[in-house]
Amino acid sequence: MMTAATDTHLTDPRVRESKVTVPVYGQLPFVPERASGCDIFTRDGRRILDLYGGHAVAALGYGHPRLVEAVNRQCKNLMFQSNAVALDIRAEAAEKLVGVAPQGLDRVFFVNSGAEANENALRMACMATGRKKVLAITQGFHGRTAAAAAVTWNSARWYGFPSLPFDVDFIPRDDVAAAHAMIGSDIAAVIFEPVQGVAGAYDLSLDFVQALRDATKKHGAMLIADEVQSGMGRCGQFFAVQVHDIEPDFLTSAKALGGGIPCAAVLCSHEIASHFGSGDLGSTFGGGPVAAAAIVAVIDAIENEQLLANVRRSELAIREQCIVGPIKRIQGMGLLLGLVCDRPAIEVRNALLEHDILTGTSGDPEVLRILAPLILEPAHIDHLAEALSVVAPATI
Ligand SMILES: Cc1ncc(COP(=O)(O)O)c(C=O)c1O
Repeated sequence: MMTAATDTHLTDPRVRESKVTVPVYGQLPFVPERASGCDIFTRDGRRILDLYGGHAVAALGYGHPRLVEAVNRQCKNLMFQSNAVALDIRAEAAEKLVGVAPQGLDRVFFVNSGAEANENALRMACMATGRKKVLAITQGFHGRTAAAAAVTWNSARWYGFPSLPFDVDFIPRDDVAAAHAMIGSDIAAVIFEPVQGVAGAYDLSLDFVQALRDATKKHGAMLIADEVQSGMGRCGQFFAVQVHDIEPDFLTSAKALGGGIPCAAVLCSHEIASHFGSGDLGSTFGGGPVAAAAIVAVIDAIENEQLLANVRRSELAIREQCIVGPIKRIQGMGLLLGLVCDRPAIEVRNALLEHDILTGTSGDPEVLRILAPLILEPAHIDHLAEALSVVAPATI
């Protein structure tokens, strides 16, 4: 006879998933049943403050009325049509996106994920320049498809294909002299994250970012800002390059772009867009109406609810209140922050989870990542600071 314990075990989605999915994810020790605002409510009755936002996706938190209503309405009206037809909602999403993007980026190509956006930006840069070599930055992360993984640091680990699609080299991060020495007239593109997310919310120096812009401009190479993680308000402006005040040739966006509905975009200028014609690029789902409705709702919410100002206020409060307990210093920008710990970050993450606070680790074993919803409130930051202050001292 089945006991209550075996019954719970069999209905636990962690057990069920482990039997029918490819085992590539280390999963957290709780099962979310619903979420609202910044809180996740779990199957075993916990209420967890989510400062990780589903890998920086939940910009508006969970169940935001404007986003839910926009998606519901679009599902009822027209759930899908491909780019074979023009749609008002797709036009509106593109207009809104270029309206908040850095000046000069006035054309959009919609796709579905961050890796796909980078893949297309790299392809477009190679096609537009006719060149075959790409530079990326050490410690950077750009996704797991062929071209995106090829420009990801540690590509031997991420890449997995028998050969690279183009020549790649890595500029040591923040090395201005190396940037000038390596960027020449053979380079199709330089791809960089203004704030390196997976690397631990490491904000590249302004001098370095400026050197990338100056050297690419000088040699006719394309500068691609990967804002998949840093964009859509997370760094206190719509895009982190607007904090740096530079204009890239391409910008890629995903994650928070649809607030939880999968979507992504490549932005470029109309001059670059004019290199491409019918059939050069494509995507079945890219720019689908439900994703487009979500993009419109996310941009409207960020603007109407003054979320950029809230991100900047929240960053200041976290910097003021959270260098306590195991936290030695804080890097990053806005709500893409790396809390540098005096011990392995995973220990701090686990300790915070016992206080019902979810944070993330990163590629740097000492850095804990905060990717909180942009709707974060002062009480949430108080909760984090209090929990950090009572984390037990390091054992070594
Ligand atoms: C900066 C950056 N670029 C690209 C990607 C890949 O995005 P996706 O997982 O949507 O393909 C990520 C994902 O973490 C990212 O952080």
